[in-house]
Amino acid sequence: MKAKIWLSSPHMGGTEQNYIKEAFDANWIAPLGPNVNGFEKDLENYLEQDKNVACLSSGTAAIHLALVQLGVVLNDEVICQTFTFCGSSNPIAYQGAIPVFVDSEPETWNMCPLHLEAAIKNRIANGITPKAIIIVHLYGMPSKIDELLEVASKYKIPVIEDAAEALGSTYKGRKCGTFGDFSILSFNGNKIITTSGGGAMVCNTEEDKNQTVFYATQARDIAPHYEHSKIGYNYRMSNISAGIGRGQMEVLDKHIGLRRDMNAFYVDLFKDIKGVEVQKQPGSEFYSNFWLSCILIHEDAPFTKAQFQEAMDAENIETRPLWKPMHLQPVFKNPLYFGNKLSESLFKNGLCLPSGSNLTQEERDRILKVVISIK
Ligand SMILES: Cc1ncc(COP(=O)(O)O)c(C=O)c1O
Repeated sequence: MKAKIWLSSPHMGGTEQNYIKEAFDANWIAPLGPNVNGFEKDLENYLEQDKNVACLSSGTAAIHLALVQLGVVLNDEVICQTFTFCGSSNPIAYQGAIPVFVDSEPETWNMCPLHLEAAIKNRIANGITPKAIIIVHLYGMPSKIDELLEVASKYKIPVIEDAAEALGSTYKGRKCGTFGDFSILSFNGNKIITTSGGGAMVCNTEEDKNQTVFYATQARDIAPHYEHSKIGYNYRMSNISAGIGRGQMEVLDKHIGLRRDMNAFYVDLFKDIKGVEVQKQPGSEFYSNFWLSCILIHEDAPFTKAQFQEAMDAENIETRPLWKPMHLQPVFKNPLYFGNKLSESLFKNGLCLPSGSNLTQEERDRILKVVISIK
């Protein structure tokens, strides 16, 4: 059996272990320390907008703490992009709040500003103003963030920007992860850079960062003993993981270049195959890190999605359907939903393809061979 070609596997730059060694040498084996501070500074510098970053144990934890800090409680409603991974929406349920799922527009596959406004109007007409809006830049593609923020500010609803998949992507030249009232990043093992597991909250003020760290470290009040007036969480990042992150920051831009090369490879590979569409940036304002390259296989293609998956699978090459929309997930029974079901057709026709920055020419050739054999 040939070695597995993964969608997106960790890709170390080479210096990660130096930072880990420093942590061991100084005995900073804890969820705080110089690597955590250093990684936060690296991210702040990278994002460029004078932000304050708090490193956390995961992107999901970051979304949870954003909801906590926006005062989301039992039975509140929170708007969330339906076409996403459950890490975006599950924290709504952690708070006992109710998700209101909003579907996508066709150009970026992210939240549609028109459906967003329809959802808000409907909920307000029902006497409930949603407490927050969770916007996602899925697969690294920036959403139509200006239009979405305009709707959010018209109704004065705060925005949580889920940039878990979009570190290094930009919209009108500005980095994703800098647009929200709170923005979140993920460094899970499959992401563009990884700390094995981890995430971050990007905050607009130092006060917000301090409050995020307060909630992430069990909400300990200032007192000589352990005093608590709020419920906190154990969500801070380990100093060892942060060491991996510091090393990864050194190669982030290089790895984005390599992912974009993978995308160009697929654009070329499928350019003459009728009915197969590679996801593309809708205009010059949108710069995707192409965390994952995705295709849609339409009815007029020479093969079906199932046939293509089977052929790739036979060669031990991973493919994966696009995210199943949250409004179709059994865990959210009869959810509130606004849109025209675009996400359902994306889920039906779409596949993610191997996209890692560490794929070799030999691995590309194996992918190419499958496509040639099946077209
Ligand atoms: C869109 C999106 N949101 C949230 C998350 C949650 O991040 P984490 O896995 O770090 O909890 C992920 C990824 O895993 C994601 O892809």
